[in-house]
Amino acid sequence: MGGIIRRKNSLFVKKPCSLPEKGSADDGLKRSLGPLALLLLGVGSIIGAGIYVLTGAAAASFAGPGVLFSFVIAGFACVFAGLCYSELASSMPVTGSAYVYAYSTLGELPAWILGWLLVLEYGVAGSLVAVGFSGYFVSLLASFGIVIPEALSTPFVQSIPTSGGYSFVAGGGINLIAAIAVLIMATPLLFGLRNFAIVNSSIVLLKILVLLVFVAFGFSSIIPDHFSPLIPENEGGFAYGWQGVFRAASMIFFAYIGFETVSTAAAEAKKPQRDLPIGILGSLAVCTLIYMAVAAVLIGIVPFRELNVPDPLALAVDHIGKPWLLFFVKVGAVIGLTSILMSTCYGQSRIFFAMARDGLLPQAFMRLHKKHQTPWVGTIIIASCMAFAAGALPITLLGDLISIGVAATFSIVCLSVISLRNTAPELERPFKVPFGGFRIRGYWIGYVPAFGIFMCLFMITPLILDLVSKAQNGNPLPVLLLAGFIGVGASIYVFYGYRNSRMGSVESIEVENGVQVISGARS
Ligand code: ALA
Repeated sequence: MGGIIRRKNSLFVKKPCSLPEKGSADDGLKRSLGPLALLLLGVGSIIGAGIYVLTGAAAASFAGPGVLFSFVIAGFACVFAGLCYSELASSMPVTGSAYVYAYSTLGELPAWILGWLLVLEYGVAGSLVAVGFSGYFVSLLASFGIVIPEALSTPFVQSIPTSGGYSFVAGGGINLIAAIAVLIMATPLLFGLRNFAIVNSSIVLLKILVLLVFVAFGFSSIIPDHFSPLIPENEGGFAYGWQGVFRAASMIFFAYIGFETVSTAAAEAKKPQRDLPIGILGSLAVCTLIYMAVAAVLIGIVPFRELNVPDPLALAVDHIGKPWLLFFVKVGAVIGLTSILMSTCYGQSRIFFAMARDGLLPQAFMRLHKKHQTPWVGTIIIASCMAFAAGALPITLLGDLISIGVAATFSIVCLSVISLRNTAPELERPFKVPFGGFRIRGYWIGYVPAFGIFMCLFMITPLILDLVSKAQNGNPLPVLLLAGFIGVGASIYVFYGYRNSRMGSVESIEVENGVQVISGARS
């Protein structure tokens, strides 16, 4: 991406990346990952609080046994975004996330929007994981006879089942367990994460093992009657019926986040064109099968209406009556959720670090600790906000906010592929999305990215309709939270990011032989 960028239109000013020759010595990465390694990377990154926690609420409030279909729909919707992530990652093997891709292809404003949306995908997701952690942890303590008072383990806003799904009432307790969990897990991040990768890979194995053991031992306790009817008749709103199946799919969208990690390994794939689709589609398919198996055993053991609990797997194992299994599932869930909590907080601090480096967020987010070289101030601010949300909000509401953020993020990634194909058609792309595309007035539109955007919109339509109908029925909290989130983001950009953007101050950028010469930028 050479050429000169001037500050004429700074809302859409693009941040160029210098691109090393792919596969050459100077990109520094060895092409050593085959399809199996990528598939395992994907599965390890995907499985988490979604299946451990949200499955119960999605089945109880919306889909009943039909949640099995919801998993297929949500997994399918991710396929297209996954392919788009791969194309961008293989043509721009830069560190960073979708935020960096959007900055390079669509420009500053879309990148800002995406960076802000990633707060939902990382920060708010971390709060959700903490709430899940709290559920399993309280349940584990109860096995030892230690009872945590409800007022300390239930959020301030409570989710109450209603005839059309659920609604929210204020005035519960405060989920102190979840809030403290965030603060404790964020603490090692202040000191750096030297051995985290090794510990994390063992935890990945443990969290998958827990699910497989649960399915293996729970299978024989399934009561077939629990699946009849497979899709219960609609009871109004999004409670059951196909409406409920789609509404549940938009909630458990969250359970599939993480497959993007495969695309970040694009520069290390042995044969990107072959290995990336296998890694992404394979991990989505494997996780869909695991999720369906877990959901089937869960619903087969516990009638779906009883599953609206913070620790559904533990509830099911309680029914089976194998104390060792109950202990294993609870401990496995607590440890597995701990590692996800840490990595979401880590991811969020690094995204804000990148945005602060570009001048779009206050410099506090990029201030490094003198000794540990970690963005400690940013990490403390982020962890405090995450802890606040974890203490105050119920898991259902957090899940809905995340799904909206994820759908919007995936759509912008799909849009970036279309834009980059038109603005830099000559760019080397070791992986290209399949099936080609069509042209409107010479502008290329790919089938895969276009369908990816469609699927994202399709996924969150029931969710948006539900939130609007809740607002009309005197339950405006989710809409107000969303509006507040957008309002805060817009204000930060208008009053800080736009004025302090490094790229916005650039007079010219010339790229020659892969070296950027930037003139006039603020330091
Ligand atoms: N997919 C991840 C989870 O379910 C984010 O926790």
